[in-house]
Amino acid sequence: METKTATKKSPAKKTTTTKTTAKTPAKKNAAKSLEDLFEDALKDIYWAEKALLKALPTMMKNASSEKLKTAIDKHITETEGHVERLEECFKALGKKAQAKKCDAMQGLLDEGKSILEETEPGAVRDAGIIAAAQKVEHYEIATYGTLAAFAKVLKEEECLKNLLSTLEEEKKCDELLTKVADTNLNSKAM
Ligand SMILES: [Fe+2]
Ligand SMILES: [Fe+2]
Repeated sequence: METKTATKKSPAKKTTTTKTTAKTPAKKNAAKSLEDLFEDALKDIYWAEKALLKALPTMMKNASSEKLKTAIDKHITETEGHVERLEECFKALGKKAQAKKCDAMQGLLDEGKSILEETEPGAVRDAGIIAAAQKVEHYEIATYGTLAAFAKVLKEEECLKNLLSTLEEEKKCDELLTKVADTNLNSKAM
C-alpha cells in the first residue's frame, strides 16, 4: 500500500519540475553576445537615471530634515552627471544614446511614491524617503557593478572609467543616507 502511494506521487512531481525548468524562448531581437547585453543594460540604466532625475525633486520637497534635503539635492546634481556619463559610454561604443524602460526602477519609484502617501510629513516620512532612496541606490550599485564587469571583459576602457566613477558616487550616496538615518531620523521617527 505504501509503495503504491509513493509511485503514484512521483510522476506528478516530475511534471512540475519539467514545467519550471523549461527554457524561455528568446525574442526575435534578443541579445546574442555580451556586447549586445552590455548595450541593452546601458539603455536600461539610461532610462532609470532619467526617471530618477524626475522623481528626486519630489522626494526632496517631501523631506523635512535639512540634512536629508541637502543629501538629495547633492544627488540630483550627481545623477545629472550619471546621465552624461552614460551618454559618453554610448559615444565610446559608437552607438546612439537610447533609453529603454527599466521595469525595476519603475517599481522602485512607484514604491517611493506610495511611501509618501502612506506617511505623515516629518520624521516618519523622512525615514520612509530614506528607505525608498536606499533601495534605489542599491539597485544602481548592483547595476553599475555588473556594467563595469562587462566593460572590463569587453575591454571598453572609456566606458569602464565612467561606470566606475558613477558606481563610486552611488556608494557614497548610500553611505550618506545611512548616516542621515542614523544621526537624526530613525530615533525621532520612533
Ligand atoms: Fe545614478
Ligand atoms: Fe543614485
